Amino acid sequence: MDKELLLMIPGPIQPEQEVMAAMGAPVRAHYGPEWTELYNQTTAILKRLFNTQGDVFLMVGSGSCALDGCLGSAFSAGEKVLIGYNGFFGERLKAIAEGYGLNPILVDAEWGKPLNPTDFEAALQKHSDAKGICVVHLETSTTIINPIEEIGKIARNYGVCFMVDAVSSLGGLPMSMDDWNIDLCASASQKCLGAPPGLAPVAIGKHGWEWIDRNPSKGHGWYTNLRTWRKYADEWADWHPFPITMATNNVLALKASLDNLLREGVEYRMERYRSLALRLRDGLRKIGMPPFTPDQMMSPVLTAAFGPEGVPTSEIVTYLAEKHHIKIAGGLGALKNKIIRIGHMAPTVSKEDIDRVLDALSQFKP
Ligand SMILES: Cc1ncc(COP(=O)(O)O)c(C=O)c1O
Repeated sequence: MDKELLLMIPGPIQPEQEVMAAMGAPVRAHYGPEWTELYNQTTAILKRLFNTQGDVFLMVGSGSCALDGCLGSAFSAGEKVLIGYNGFFGERLKAIAEGYGLNPILVDAEWGKPLNPTDFEAALQKHSDAKGICVVHLETSTTIINPIEEIGKIARNYGVCFMVDAVSSLGGLPMSMDDWNIDLCASASQKCLGAPPGLAPVAIGKHGWEWIDRNPSKGHGWYTNLRTWRKYADEWADWHPFPITMATNNVLALKASLDNLLREGVEYRMERYRSLALRLRDGLRKIGMPPFTPDQMMSPVLTAAFGPEGVPTSEIVTYLAEKHHIKIAGGLGALKNKIIRIGHMAPTVSKEDIDRVLDALSQFKP
């Protein structure tokens, strides 16, 4: 591996050394009281981050696995769900919903603008038979943070299930599942949680099980069916509280990362990310690559910027990788070749790394 490579994409991130050491620890059995205690300690920290009194499971898979589990468990074929669509990952929610034969109704906003809560209210008035609202928290393709709390109030007023994709936000942005009326929430290990890819935490809030239990089709399949995960968490609680062979090293790594996060302090960490974002945005303006969003809409863990006029941004991404050993990302979907995206959602990212990116970008000549 190129030791000099600076990984600044919006996940996966470069984990801390002790996290990678845990990944490389001897493989152990995935059951027994000692292992179960460790697993439970990990999910307990995640409950604090989700801010829920509900349940958290660690699905073995990527973030989409947890999203799949939420949508497939709570709704059945033919049911209407409102899907917030203002970027590539809103589209992903729609694709998963379609995969389950649901009837997705898009509530859209321009890519680069947040979703408007009143649009959900209007859509619920029009589709009074809709069963749920599904929204991405931090839309990684545009860096836009959607107004989850406000949309959650509408979901509660209209009595529909509220599901949130927190794949790129959990651990980096405030999350308050129970207070924001979120019933189901999905995340992933490889972004703000600071671990390698491989685990997909899923949280079922105060009323989440009511939605899953009322689902007439009893959820789809077995692996991603959250009822399966609940059954083992209940019936095998003392020795094997999950249905499958757990990815033990990934859990050890995630726990090491979460322990570090608690040691640093969640609020302190978030503040640190915010100041890195401000430093980056300031530098980008100085080199003529203005941020894609205004500062009031700033994402603390991920920044998008325009490149020089008329230059496809893939050229900048390639230049940084080839000449400076820095890996950043380009735009996705409608924003392909229009923006660059720089991830700073890892505890390992320092001010010096931000300056190294800025220095490299300033040397780019179209
Ligand atoms: C907001 C969001 N949702 C979903 C996904 C898909 O996650 P995964 O690639 O881990 O399946 C991503 C990945 O970048 C994401 O950023």
